[in-house]
Amino acid sequence: MKRVVLFKEEEIERRVGELADELNKVYSGKEVVVIPLLRGGVVFAMDLVKKFKFPVEMDFLTTSSYGFSDTTSGNVNILNDIRTDVKGKDVLLVDDIIDTGKTLLKVKEFMLSKSPASIKVCTMLDKPSRRVEDIQPDFTGFKVEDLFIVGYGLDYQNFYRNIPYIFVFEKEEGEE
Ligand code: PRP
Repeated sequence: MKRVVLFKEEEIERRVGELADELNKVYSGKEVVVIPLLRGGVVFAMDLVKKFKFPVEMDFLTTSSYGFSDTTSGNVNILNDIRTDVKGKDVLLVDDIIDTGKTLLKVKEFMLSKSPASIKVCTMLDKPSRRVEDIQPDFTGFKVEDLFIVGYGLDYQNFYRNIPYIFVFEKEEGEE
């Protein structure tokens, strides 16, 4: 298998900088609870938060939908809750990709029950063609086609999340 790069490291860095600029304007003068969705959202979130100029509290929510399968099971589970009391606070959820939207819908409903002042969602990647739920991110790095993409938080059998660029695997000539 060979790797075909969709977004180079420099392209990702540039886009993360642009998103951070936008978020610095949106949240100017506010304190924000930034919540990456583990596991996939953490690589992007760590790059993003380093560029924030407003005060940030961080917490982590662990969700799971795919398991070891390449396609969503449709059942989204909250495996680990946050510890921060977000009542009356501004919350920013950060994830690597929005696909069917099932994870985001479940997480937003779950978080809304905690009565935050606001909830916004920032995703590095969005696959709108795969959407099943009527839900959209507030901030998006790149829109992508329906390809099985890997790297920068996205895994293949839980590997490759640490790769600093985003790519697809392609079969080489003669490969089964
Ligand atoms: C992936 C990804 C998103 C979600 C998107 O997480 O990180 O959270 O799926 O898919 P959806 O829009 O169809 O719900 P996954 O549940 O695979 O867990 P992981 O972050 O541990 O890889």
